[in-house]
Parts: sequence; structure tokens; C-alpha cells
Amino acid sequence: MEEFNLSRRGLLLGAAGFAADAAFADPGTSRPAAESAITAADAGARAAPRRIIIDTDPGVDDALAIFLALRSPEVKVEAITPVAGNVPLDFTLPNALRLLEIAGRTDIPVAAGASRPLKRRLVTAAHVHGNNGLGGVEFPLPKVKPVAETAPQLIRRLVRASPGELSIIAIGPLTNLALAFRADPQLPSQIRSIHIMGGSLSGGNITPAAEFNSYVDPEAAQIVYRSGARITMIGLDVTRKVVLSEAQVGMLESSADPVGHAAGRIMRATLAQIRRSGLEGGQLLVHDPLALGSFIEPSFVRLQDLHIEIETTGELTAGETVGYRKAPIRRSAPWVDAPDAAAELPFLANARVALDVDSERFRSFLIDRLTHRSS
Ligand code: RIB
Ligand code: CA
Repeated sequence: MEEFNLSRRGLLLGAAGFAADAAFADPGTSRPAAESAITAADAGARAAPRRIIIDTDPGVDDALAIFLALRSPEVKVEAITPVAGNVPLDFTLPNALRLLEIAGRTDIPVAAGASRPLKRRLVTAAHVHGNNGLGGVEFPLPKVKPVAETAPQLIRRLVRASPGELSIIAIGPLTNLALAFRADPQLPSQIRSIHIMGGSLSGGNITPAAEFNSYVDPEAAQIVYRSGARITMIGLDVTRKVVLSEAQVGMLESSADPVGHAAGRIMRATLAQIRRSGLEGGQLLVHDPLALGSFIEPSFVRLQDLHIEIETTGELTAGETVGYRKAPIRRSAPWVDAPDAAAELPFLANARVALDVDSERFRSFLIDRLTHRSS
């Protein structure tokens, strides 16, 4: 299995994306002029929904993110690509189909993704998401079937058919994206943007070092962060602040909208499980919706351009996302018998990382959208 080398071209491509923004920084504003221009362009483009693919491991918080997408006029969901993660693919695949049936959107194609990480055994999070991945809540078996293509094939076909138009909301382990990039190394440059729920600069949630999505498949995360794609990282640093209250769960449950009501059932079951287990301090954290929320409305988060590397060899830290704010990108001290120490890499930002969130405003946005209330 060929190694995916640290692609300098990829780094340069990725950095060029960010450097361009910085290069035209407009001293008169806090935003680089290029970014202001992009924002203005996006604002114009917002008349037309922005096209997205959701790569996901549903997953109770994935369910909220998928429902949010289906209740947001700013986006058009072109496909959903399930991957093994929170629960095995045998559950994430039918769960994706179920969620679309609940929303009456079986027109959206679903393609089966990877059933295991690139190099590791699958570690799941059924203790949080329930054995069926939806908090144990039983929904009817889906009638609709997945498409014949695999997730990497569908991602490649849709992106290649519309270069620069599709964005990806990646809210599970990054195995599907890594496989697509390995099959088509030019693909990252054809993707408009990738918003990733994953990683953390402030400690993990499945080990002290690693966040679950990057923990499950560190090698896939390394491929994606080194690919040169325009990445926004929405990590635990901000998603830990997105806690649903009992009242907000009640608003979902009492929603007349089948999407809101289904979300309420899943959140109620998850809240009960979280309180039984004492996980996350008994708080109902919902990580994934913010990856989509910050794509729809960037002002929900504060971003900083960083260089992100993924730890892949640690006995205790594999999956850790290491953020460099400035040069040098220094690696661990070399072994005594190592060849000459690897040259330190120059500082090239490869991700915009969310460091703060307007949690209350985002949660209100989420609940309003899922309960069809006008905000
Ligand atoms: O660490 C949180 C992430 O892991 C979320 O995407 C959740 O769904 C799980 O996949
Ligand atoms: Ca997820």
C-alpha cells in the first residue's frame, strides 16, 4: 500500500489558498480583502444554494447535522456518503437512508463507504451513540437502497463533473475522503472547501490526546490534511461548547416537523444514556452540526490559519491533531541511529481552525431550523 508522502505540492496548493487571502490583506479591515471578496462572492452566490456532500458516520449528532442540511435553504445536499465510525457501516449506511426517508428526501443518493479504517481495526462509540447508532431509537427499516457506486467513486464523479463547485462536510472518520484522494490525487484541488468536524488542540475525547474521528483513522486524516485541500477544522475546541439543554430537547420533541420530532426522539434517548453513563459530565454535546453551521454562517466561529499535522505513530497519542501557529514545523527529536534529522518544514498553513464559537447563537439557529421556527 503506497505511502502518501508529505506532498510539498499539496502543502503549497493548500498554503496558496490561504496565502492568497493573506496576500491581499486589506489594511482597512480585519478581513483580508480576498476573504472579503470571497465573502461577498459567497453572499452573491448564496442566492443559489451551495452544493455539498455530507461524509458521515450516523451517529446521533450526525443525524442532527444531516437534518440541519435538509432544513437549510443555503445548501443543496448532492449526496451522503456513510463511513464506519460511531457504529459499523452495517448501521451507518441504513441510518443514512432512514434519515433521508424521515425527511422525505430519498432523491438524494447514498453510497456505501469504507467498512474499516485504512490500516487499523475499527473502534466504535456505541457507548455514546447506542448499538444502532441512533441512540437505540427504532425507526422503520429503510425502503430506499444505496446507489451501486462506492462512496469514494461517487465523491470523485460528482466533484469531477463540477470542478470547484462542491464542498464537503466531513463529520466522521476521513477514510472515504482519503480513498478518493488516493485514487485521484488531483481531486483535492477540485473541491471548493472541506469543513471537518474532527481533531482538537485542547485534548481528546476518546484518549487524552485524540478526538474520535481522527483517532479512528489517523492515516486517513493525515492524507486529507496533507492533500492541499481548503480545510476548515471544527474541532473539540469549539464543539465542546455546543451543549443542548433539556428545554431544547423538549422543543425538538414537540415539533410538528417529522425531522425535528425524530431529532427530539434521538436526543432524548442520548441524553438519558449520557446521564446513565456520566460521560461528558452528563452534558448533551452535539459536535457535528457546527461543521455545517459554520459552513452556512462563518460568523458562528473565529478561525485562525494553522499548520495541522496528525500523529500516526504514537502508542498513546495516535490521532492527535498537532497545531503549529508559526515556523518551524519541528518533528520529535531524532533517534540516535536515525539518518540525518528530517529537515524542518517551512510554515505553510493547511487549515483554518476554529478557536472560538458563539455557542448560544448557533444552538438557537440549530433548534429554529430543526423545528421550522423562523429565527
Ligand atoms: O468526536 C466527535 C465526533 O466523533 C463526532 O463526529 C461524533 O459523531 C463522532 O463521530
Ligand atoms: Ca460523526
